[in-house]
Amino acid sequence: MNSIRVFAPATVANVACGFDSLGFAIHQPGDIVEATLSKTPGVRITGITGDEKRLPREAEKNTAGVAVMALMEHLDEARGVDIMLHKRMPLGSGLGSSAASSVAALYATNQLLGGPLQKHEMLPFAMKAEASACGSPHADNVAPGLLGGFVLIRSYDPLDVISIDYPDNLCCTILHPHIEVRTEDSRRILRKHIKLSDAVIQWSNLAGLIAGLGKADFELISRSLNDIIFEPVRSLLIPGFDKIKGAAIASGALGCSISGSGPSVFALSTSMDKAREVGLAMKQAFSEMQLGSDIYVSAINSIGPRILTPDEDPVAPEF
Ligand code: HSE
Repeated sequence: MNSIRVFAPATVANVACGFDSLGFAIHQPGDIVEATLSKTPGVRITGITGDEKRLPREAEKNTAGVAVMALMEHLDEARGVDIMLHKRMPLGSGLGSSAASSVAALYATNQLLGGPLQKHEMLPFAMKAEASACGSPHADNVAPGLLGGFVLIRSYDPLDVISIDYPDNLCCTILHPHIEVRTEDSRRILRKHIKLSDAVIQWSNLAGLIAGLGKADFELISRSLNDIIFEPVRSLLIPGFDKIKGAAIASGALGCSISGSGPSVFALSTSMDKAREVGLAMKQAFSEMQLGSDIYVSAINSIGPRILTPDEDPVAPEF
C-alpha cells in the first residue's frame, strides 16, 4: 500500500468539569487526510482544501505536518510522506480541528509504514502538534481523537491516559455558532489561580461524572456535568450561551456546556432522538442571535480514526 485516505473525528474536550483532563470523540464532523509514501525523504503538505487558504502549507508549521515529522523522526524513517489535507471541520470551533488533522495524518502514516506503533504510542506526536498550534500540549482532544470513546488524561508527566467506560446510548448534540474563537485566546483569558472551595466542587463533579459514566447512572451524569470555573469566563465569548444552555436543559438534555475552548456548545442526551430534539431547541434559541450555526448529532465514537473507502464522504451537519 502506497497511499491511504483516513478520517479522524471531532472531539469534545473538557466535558464541562474536566479541563485539560477529559474528552470524547464524536462521529462527525472530522478531517480527511490522504497520505502517500514517497522515496524522497521528508514530510510535505502537498495541498489543503476547505481552509480558505488560512492554514500553513509548510509541514513544520501545520499540525498534520508537525505530528508526522515527529513520528518519522522517532522511527528514524528514511522515506518521506506527502500529505493532502481536506479540512472538513471549522477552524477555531472548539471541536478539536487541529487535533483531527494531526490524528488523521499520524494514523494514515503509521498504516502506510506497516503499523509499527500502537495508537497510544502516537499520542506524544499529536500533543507536540497541539503545542505548535496553540502553545499548549493538552491531550484532551488528541487522546480521544486517536483512541475513540471517553478518555481521561490522569497525568501529563508521566503521560497516563485512561479509556473510560460510558453508556452505549449516550449521545451528543453540538451547536457550532458561525464565529471563531482561537484556543490560544480562550486560554489566555482564564484565571491562573482558583479558589480552593471552587476546586473542590470542580474535582468532585469530575469524579461524579466518571463514576456516572461507568455505572450508566444518568442522574449522576446530569448532576455532575457542571463547570463552575471556566464556563463563566469563556461563555462571555459565546453569544446567547445562557439561552442555548437553558434550551438544551429544558428540552431534556442531561447537561450542557462549552465544547473545548468554544465557541461550540455541547449537550449530552440518552438517545439520538432526544439529542436531535435538543439540537432543534438549541438552534431555535441561537437563532435569536441573528448568526448562522450548524448542529451535529452523534453517538459517541468508540473507534477514533478510520480508513475510508475511495468514494466515502462521511461529513455533513445534521441540520
Ligand atoms: N482543554 C483545552 C482548553 C481544549 O479548554 O483550552 C482546547 O480545545
